[in-house]
Amino acid sequence: MKKILIVGAGGQIGTELKTYLRERYGEANVIAADLQANPSDQYSIQLDAMDASALSLIVNKHKIDTIYNLVALLSARGEQDPALAWKINMGALLNALEVARQYGCQVFTPSSIGAFGPDAPKENTPQDTIMHPTTVYGICKVTGELMSNYYYQRFGVDARSVRFPGIISNASLPGGGTTDYAVEVFYSAVKGEKFICPIPADRRMDMMYMPDALDALHDLMTADSDRLVHRNGYNVTAMSFSPEILFAKIKERIPTFEYEYAVDPIKDSISSGWPDSLDDNCARIEWDWNPKWGLDAMVDDMISVLRKKLL
Ligand code: SER
Repeated sequence: MKKILIVGAGGQIGTELKTYLRERYGEANVIAADLQANPSDQYSIQLDAMDASALSLIVNKHKIDTIYNLVALLSARGEQDPALAWKINMGALLNALEVARQYGCQVFTPSSIGAFGPDAPKENTPQDTIMHPTTVYGICKVTGELMSNYYYQRFGVDARSVRFPGIISNASLPGGGTTDYAVEVFYSAVKGEKFICPIPADRRMDMMYMPDALDALHDLMTADSDRLVHRNGYNVTAMSFSPEILFAKIKERIPTFEYEYAVDPIKDSISSGWPDSLDDNCARIEWDWNPKWGLDAMVDDMISVLRKKLL
């Protein structure tokens, strides 16, 4: 049986990954760590991911063999404070890789579509191509992929990662990301509030519904190591849409839904450098990646879950 540590367990992915992994491995085998412990969860602990010795103590004490490092300062927030973004994104990863080296753990860290910059091909962006990110978040993600491969080759640390697109979810909101609009719009639409969109109407980006993102994490981490040619930075996607495409789908279901555009220059600049659609064939070939949720099913489910939650 695995003994798992989720670092950043209170975030958008961590909140749902905790439940997903506990269903598979048991409550006591999934320790949830974040800056604040959750008093209603007996397997939740307080951890500052920047504190290498605290991380090491936890891994030792709980006999952890798998670390999901989900700590991140996202793309738009990162542009407000690049030094802090580097410190947090790289600091948490390095601490996870070092403790994994010491205790023989497997490590997952999300990379992102943000790893690509404007020089990369926009359509069907290949797995292996020019990257040249122009945001500090993207620079951290490319460096993270390289460091993860370095720790694997140099020290045998089984570090794995995928390049996630925007993740759409209904349990915990993202914060500070460029793709956040695709989550926030559902909250506004369901509550009957007008949505102000910070992204240009025709700007396409890759997206994925949370259930597929959780499967991606778990499927990669449990994949046969011998099949993994890349190991880090797998392109994964489930759909690609622009605000105007998404809003039309929401309006079909909520005809009173209203929105307008007030484009945020930073989010405009960040998203203009990202792919329109990724080619995720390597993930399909090397570990059987196969997303289940398309745009219409995702929109139906988001509205139905949020209606129950918010109304
Ligand atoms: N969702 C992230 C962001 O928008 C991309 O990985 O920053």
